[in-house]
Amino acid sequence: MTTLFDPLVSGDLSLANRIAMAPLTRNRSPRAVPTELTAAYYAQRASAGLLITEATAISHQGQGYAHVPGLYAPEQIAGWRKVTDAVHAAGGKIVVQMWHVGRISHTSLQPGGGAPVAPSAITAKAKTYIINPDGSGSFVPTSAPRALDIGELPGIVEDYRRAARAAIEAGFDGVEVHAANGYLIDQFLRSGSNHRTDAYGGSIENRARLLVEVMEAIVAEIGAGRTGIRISPVTPANDAADPAPAPLFKHVVEQLARWPLAYVHVIEGATGGARDFQQGDEPFDYAALKAAYTQAGGRAAWMVNNGYDRELAAAAVAEGRADLVAFGKAFISNPDLVRRLRENAPLNEWDSTTFYGGTEKGYLDYPALA
Ligand SMILES: Cc1cc2nc3c(=O)[nH]c(=O)nc-3n(C[C@H](O)[C@H](O)[C@H](O)COP(=O)(O)O)c2cc1C
Repeated sequence: MTTLFDPLVSGDLSLANRIAMAPLTRNRSPRAVPTELTAAYYAQRASAGLLITEATAISHQGQGYAHVPGLYAPEQIAGWRKVTDAVHAAGGKIVVQMWHVGRISHTSLQPGGGAPVAPSAITAKAKTYIINPDGSGSFVPTSAPRALDIGELPGIVEDYRRAARAAIEAGFDGVEVHAANGYLIDQFLRSGSNHRTDAYGGSIENRARLLVEVMEAIVAEIGAGRTGIRISPVTPANDAADPAPAPLFKHVVEQLARWPLAYVHVIEGATGGARDFQQGDEPFDYAALKAAYTQAGGRAAWMVNNGYDRELAAAAVAEGRADLVAFGKAFISNPDLVRRLRENAPLNEWDSTTFYGGTEKGYLDYPALA
């Protein structure tokens, strides 16, 4: 019987165990540059089979929150190099989550103070976090976006390709394409945010076109075995909405089956909320999604996330419903989560007031077992 503590070869990744650290935005990168603190934070958690970084902007246009890191300027790549060196020195593996926020942004975060971009000019009912001119921070409604011209899309695909190359230069073991949680790629996928009438809107095939082109470009640049992807078929995060997620995500995973990827990462339910959250008329069938992927020839490791505890995670791996389980909040408060799960030791509670922003407190000071 497979356990959480068995190693796994996943694409080009050789992982010591089946426990991943989920991507977790911490807003501690001033001027979008990861720091020594970032390196210490990930190194503390290097016993995870795989660390997935916080979402990291592929371009200035892809930025949507204050103090989140980027992967498009030399100083950002140098900052990440410190992180990957520290993680590798501690024996870990780390991939970077590649992010374009689309409409989940604010004019003050955009190049030239312009409007954020989106598949269609529909403002999300969502908030973002900005720094005010006086230096204080606040949550504010996202700005009205403008619809991307079809002629701009090759440039966005090119930004992903360039960021994937930068990730390898920065020493990452691979990348995770953020296609979840209502950000740009997810905005294209879902009919609630995509009202386009060109080749990128309307049919499921058209709405998935940007995702497929981004994957093609990254796979060509760094290889499928170093490329993973995260999807969230039903989450309502950031005003993501689609009345028919089952056929949409069946098509998505059938497309993903074209490449021998590092992994496919699925958020089950509402991100950070109910695991049985539903969009449309029927409960979402995650086993059917995995079966559709396998039937289409997909062989990549299947990673699951959302509300997993020790028991649920062990059962998912033992019963073959998942190859890897990603833990989010438990990894914020337990740097030695793998050991604690192995020994069935109690977990530290997390402090949600220090999730976003700040310095060492709530970042580097959660204790490991003696
Ligand atoms: C503080 C915080 C930051 C997050 N940042 C990201 C992120 O950058 N990218 C992402 O895909 N999900 C992000 N998430 C969602 C988590 O990856 C994960 O899906 C969620 O916490 C559910 O897993 P859990 O129940 O194990 O915590 C974030 C969640 C939290 C609590």
